[in-house]
Amino acid sequence: MGLVLGIESSCDETAAALVDGERRIVAQRIASQDDAHRPYGGVVPEIAARAHAERIAPLVAAVLADAGLELADVDAIAATAGPGLIGGVMVGLVTAKALAMASDKPLIAVNHLEGHALSPRLADATLQFPYLLLLVSGGHCQVLRVDGVGQYRRLATTIDDALGEAFDKTAKILGLGFPGGPAVERLAREGNPKAVPLPRPLLGSAEPHFSFAGLKSAVLRAKQAGIHADADIAAAFQQAALDCVLDRTRRALAGSDGLTALVVAGGVAANQTIRSGLEGLAAEFGLPFVAPPLALCTDNAAMIAWAGQERLALGTFTPDPLDIAARPRWPLDPEAAPVRGAGVKA
Ligand code: KG4
Ligand code: ZN
Repeated sequence: MGLVLGIESSCDETAAALVDGERRIVAQRIASQDDAHRPYGGVVPEIAARAHAERIAPLVAAVLADAGLELADVDAIAATAGPGLIGGVMVGLVTAKALAMASDKPLIAVNHLEGHALSPRLADATLQFPYLLLLVSGGHCQVLRVDGVGQYRRLATTIDDALGEAFDKTAKILGLGFPGGPAVERLAREGNPKAVPLPRPLLGSAEPHFSFAGLKSAVLRAKQAGIHADADIAAAFQQAALDCVLDRTRRALAGSDGLTALVVAGGVAANQTIRSGLEGLAAEFGLPFVAPPLALCTDNAAMIAWAGQERLALGTFTPDPLDIAARPRWPLDPEAAPVRGAGVKA
C-alpha cells in the first residue's frame, strides 16, 4: 500500500512523517519551537512562521533520509492547510505544493482538526465509525460525532477558552512556564484537589457547550489570595476541568446512539487524569475508550499523513494542488450553529 509524506506547521511544531497504508509510521521528526516562544509565555505567530520557514525543507529531507527513501518513492503528500496560524500554515502548504509539483504526486490538503480526529484510527486499526470524539487542544475544545472521513457533526464547543488554553493560563498564573499543560499535570500530582474550592462552569447545564474562562479567573483569584499551595491550586484546577469535561461529554453521550467508542484526541488527551476520567465515563455507557499514544496526541505530522491516507483511499481530495488555499479558520462541521461568547475558534 502507498506511502504518504505528511507535513504539519499550523502552530509551533514543524513536523514531517512518512506513514504507509498498513498504519506504520516509517519515519517522523518533530522540531519543537518551545525555546523560541518560552520568553513570551505563548506562541508568537511571526516567530513561529520564521522558524517553520527555516526548518521545513531540511526536516522533510531528514525524514526521507531516515527511511532511506527519496521523494520519488512517496505516493502522495499531505499537508495541513488550516486551521492555524496563517504564516506557519502557508510555509508548510507552499513547501508541500512545491514538492507535489516537482515530483508529480497528488497533494492532499488536510484539516489539522481532521488530523487529530482520525489519529485514533492510526493507532487502533479496530476503531470503526461512528465514534464520539472529544477534541481537546490548545485552540479547540469540541465534542464531535465522527460518522466517517469528512463527516463530522459538532455537538459542543467552547463559548470562551479551549481546555488546553485554560491549562496554559493556569500554568502562567502559577509561574510554571510554557507549554503549560504538562507542567500543571506534574504539579497537580503533589496537590490536594479538594483544598481549593473552584467553580465548574456550565456543570449540569442543558446547553451542550463548554466554558473555562470563569475557572481560569477563579484560579487567578486563588493564587492572588496567597493562602493556597500552588500544587493544591493545580490539582483543584485539573479536577474542576475534568468534572466539566465529564459532565459535558456525558451529556453528549446520553444524546447519541449507535456509537462504537468514546475517543479523545488533541494535546490535552496526553493528560493522564483526563484520560482515566474519560475511561470511566466510557465504561458507564458500555463503550470502549480509545486514546492515541501520547506522542500522537500533541501536534505531529504522522496524524496528517494518516488523514492523507484515509482521503487517498477514498479519493476525496482536490485534484489540482494549486487550487488549495491556506485557511486560518476551517471548522470541521461548517453547518454547526455559532455559539454565544467571544474568542471562539472555529
Ligand atoms: O494539539 P496540540 O499539540 O496543539 C494544538 O493544536 O493546539 O495541543 C497543545 C495543548 C496545549 O494547550 C498544551 O498545554 C496541552 O495541549 N497539553 C496538555 C498536556 N500536554 C499538552 N494539557 C494538559 N495535560 C497535558 N499533559
Ligand atoms: Zn493540534
